[in-house]
Amino acid sequence: MCGIVGYIGPKQAQDFLLEGLATLEYRGYDSTGMVVIGEQGPRLVRSVGRVESVKRDLEGDPLVGSYGIGHTRWATHGAPLERNAHPHPDTNREFFVVHNGIIENYQVIKADLQKNGVQFISDTDTEVIPHLIAAEYRRLGNVTEAFLSAVQQLHGAFSIVMVSTFAPDTLFAARLSSPLVIGIGDGESFIASDPTPIMEHTKKVIFLNDFEAAVITPSEHVIINLKDSSTIERLPQVLDYDPDVAVLGDYPHFMLKEIEEAPQTVRSALLGRLRTEQNLVKLGGLDLVEEQLRYIDRIVIVSCGTSYYASMVGEYLIEEIAGIPVEVQLASEFKYRNEPLSRSTAIIAVSQSGETADTIAALNKVAGYGVLRLGVVNAVGSTIARMTDAGVYCHAGAEQSVASTKAFVAQVSVLALIALNLAKNASPLYEELIKELDNLPAKIEKILAQKQEIEALAKKYAHHRDFLFIGRRYLYPVALEGALKLKELSYIHAEGYAGGEMKHGPLAMIDENFPTLALALDGELFEKTISNIQEIKARGGPVLAICNTTEQLEGIADDVLVIPRTIEQLQPILAAIPLQLFSYYAAIELGRNVDRPRNLAKSVTVE
Ligand code: G6P
Repeated sequence: MCGIVGYIGPKQAQDFLLEGLATLEYRGYDSTGMVVIGEQGPRLVRSVGRVESVKRDLEGDPLVGSYGIGHTRWATHGAPLERNAHPHPDTNREFFVVHNGIIENYQVIKADLQKNGVQFISDTDTEVIPHLIAAEYRRLGNVTEAFLSAVQQLHGAFSIVMVSTFAPDTLFAARLSSPLVIGIGDGESFIASDPTPIMEHTKKVIFLNDFEAAVITPSEHVIINLKDSSTIERLPQVLDYDPDVAVLGDYPHFMLKEIEEAPQTVRSALLGRLRTEQNLVKLGGLDLVEEQLRYIDRIVIVSCGTSYYASMVGEYLIEEIAGIPVEVQLASEFKYRNEPLSRSTAIIAVSQSGETADTIAALNKVAGYGVLRLGVVNAVGSTIARMTDAGVYCHAGAEQSVASTKAFVAQVSVLALIALNLAKNASPLYEELIKELDNLPAKIEKILAQKQEIEALAKKYAHHRDFLFIGRRYLYPVALEGALKLKELSYIHAEGYAGGEMKHGPLAMIDENFPTLALALDGELFEKTISNIQEIKARGGPVLAICNTTEQLEGIADDVLVIPRTIEQLQPILAAIPLQLFSYYAAIELGRNVDRPRNLAKSVTVE
């Protein structure tokens, strides 16, 4: 989703802006823009499309100047058009603003400004900001005061960075629930919406919190409380991790690379935590709250998208292994539900990016409730990782493809570890699970070796308009995730259903043009899944089954894909891989943009 970068210092600002925006590209965006202010005044470039094309346009005619801001936009208000791309200027081109998030009261502000004769060019909510700052500047005669006064009038969830021709060598920033981090270099300063672009230059950073603004020069960083305009003392912190920048290497797409990283992903998630010889799970991230965890009698997991389906697997795992009641809620719904929460409830936020606005909002909602807030997060140092009381990192490494693949595998592995950690050896499944977790990477390798078989199946089925995915128990969330992957990547209409629900509606859709991918792995409910498949076949529906042996499905399914056996509790990790590959190859067959599906973003920082 939208990305922000800013630079001020002795070098040419354009270099960092282009490089920083390229680093943030994977988040998903539809337009790019930058403004640099130099001796000749400000120069603004905006374009629909990639950072690369802006870079090409600037070859031979670079932006000259030592301070500036840049932005990648993912359209919310107004179509992806050049006039809607950021930075947005005021009428006189004296104030330039980039913005992530949403200004909820922009219509009221816009109407007021229009009454005073301001002409709007874009369809965005953002454009009110530079106009409002310009109006405040005319009233107050001071850039900092004008910036603060304008920002204090805005409602919503946002982060904003501004430069002005009236304030040479200064960046102005404000945060209300959308991340911003300041990088402190040697005589230069950086700002960005996540630390990654900054970390190649400096590891000394200051994170802005909600309701904070900053006035940044090459050597000074003044943090201001937006509620009362007081100054806040905050020492920089040194981030002790390396930027997690992924490289495509010989792979055609990040998605394929990331699917193929699954064996290593599981190994990294388990490393140092799963102690097979001692029959033990050690989660250092939860040590601090060990005492509190003893009194937890209910867990609510909040998450979105693929992380939500991984959380559903976590729900089954924690309930079965640790015996604690768990409820998984979509973060976007949880925030607006009025449910009673007792102090013995723990909230677990599951998020790959650690920046998803809805998940952050869900955690914010319970901030004053005295409940324990835990995180299962992949991005180290992200907002969710910082705002939770404790947590377990996924250690999956950077995930670049918009559609999440290895993060799902890592999240389920970590949730299995949490279940075991909470069970403290009391589950009859404890030993078997520990052993089997260790066996997973080798089994995933075997599935990856079936790549060509999966590709052929995907080619065969890719031209259908609709698709159904069914699974039961631990395989139900996988069916949901399989359907999500197919829609995201191929734009085929796909639905995931619990096998047992077929007769309550979906069977009505089945005919010879509506195929089903059935997850029919060995387990308690195998026979029931076979009955579901029979019901589909009786109505002429083609069936592709993922199973553990061909014999079981002979004469029943039209196509089968055999994958290695594992215990039911861990089947989601293995079953997810062929579904990811299936969607990948279906998308290729249909000529889709695999790593950047239309209309989607990697990190969804607006509600
Ligand atoms: C977006 C991404 C999905 C991801 C979801 C939740 O929709 O495209 O791949 O699953 O956000 O993101 P999170 O970073 O919180 O896991």
